[in-house]
Amino acid sequence: MLEIKIEKTTNPKPIPDKDNPLVFGTIFTDHMFEMDYTDGKGWHDPRIVPYHNLELEPSAMVFHYGQEMFEGLKAYKTEDGRILLFRPDKNIERANHSNRRLMIPEIPEDIFMEAIKQVVKIDEAWIPTKEGTSLYIRPFVIATDPFLGVRPSYTYKFMIILSPVGAYYPEGLDPVKIWIEDEYVRAVRGGIGEAKTGGNYVASMASQMKAHEEGYSQVLWLDGVERKYIEEVGAMNIFFKINGTVVTPMLNGSILSGVTRRTCIELCKSWGVPVEERKVSVDELEEAARTGALEEVWGSGTAAVISPVGHLRYEDDVFQIGDGGIGELSQKLYDTVTGIQLGKIEDKFGWTVEV
Ligand code: COI
Repeated sequence: MLEIKIEKTTNPKPIPDKDNPLVFGTIFTDHMFEMDYTDGKGWHDPRIVPYHNLELEPSAMVFHYGQEMFEGLKAYKTEDGRILLFRPDKNIERANHSNRRLMIPEIPEDIFMEAIKQVVKIDEAWIPTKEGTSLYIRPFVIATDPFLGVRPSYTYKFMIILSPVGAYYPEGLDPVKIWIEDEYVRAVRGGIGEAKTGGNYVASMASQMKAHEEGYSQVLWLDGVERKYIEEVGAMNIFFKINGTVVTPMLNGSILSGVTRRTCIELCKSWGVPVEERKVSVDELEEAARTGALEEVWGSGTAAVISPVGHLRYEDDVFQIGDGGIGELSQKLYDTVTGIQLGKIEDKFGWTVEV
């Protein structure tokens, strides 16, 4: 494996104190990881360096055609001072799945894992410990060729930056309100919906703003062909508990294969709760909401963790889920996932990786 060179900062920044609210994605640590790709040479020069601005030509391909991939995972500090990552192997696997779809060269898994561990270790003092906080890890790759023709780039930069974070939604664990979008779509099967790449997120912004103006946190996307089947929310996958069964849209090529989604499915099954990964139509959902069969709704994601949904809106109909508060299963999932992540609950599944 390539050796990671380390250059420590000589100008460390102040670490946010315990009372800082840690608004998601606003503060960055002292160091970052960088590695370059050159055609013919492969990935080379892995290094940890002080967090810094980038110098790129304005013609760099990422600015024009959006050839980029990103990931998101978190590091946690346990009460006994260990640093834990949660299922980082799944993020690395998904990163290379995205890379293949986006024509970005795959990143060797061993160096990827080592890079995450080493950069987190160097900035371990930045891992916040207050309840609901963690160190968000953002690996990403950008295409750097100075070129305006449309083709995959011959050069890339892979970076990992770190950000101490609190809850993704200002609501915290309070249920969010979600709008089922019937005008725009996020992705279509055969497109890039399954890849973690900026294009999918910029596609969501117009409807997200529309939803915000009406007091909704996020939009829930319908499939791009029939506009009938539920897909995912802007920053999370979605789950419904209908008459005691957990139902989530099956992966179909346009939905992101979330690590927390997979975790929810595996946990529910281990508790004997029936889980169905299948198509869920908006009609089925409306009917379930109307008849009271829709017992709970929650979103899952690295940033969002488990985020209960209290209200759903579709066209002019607004449905309150249960009593509008957090459901029993959503709370149990939140407690179990965060308990395992923080080393407070025994990790029977072998999901955590110590740094
Ligand atoms: C994550 O949950 O890590 C994500 O990448 C969602 C992001 C848009 C905040």
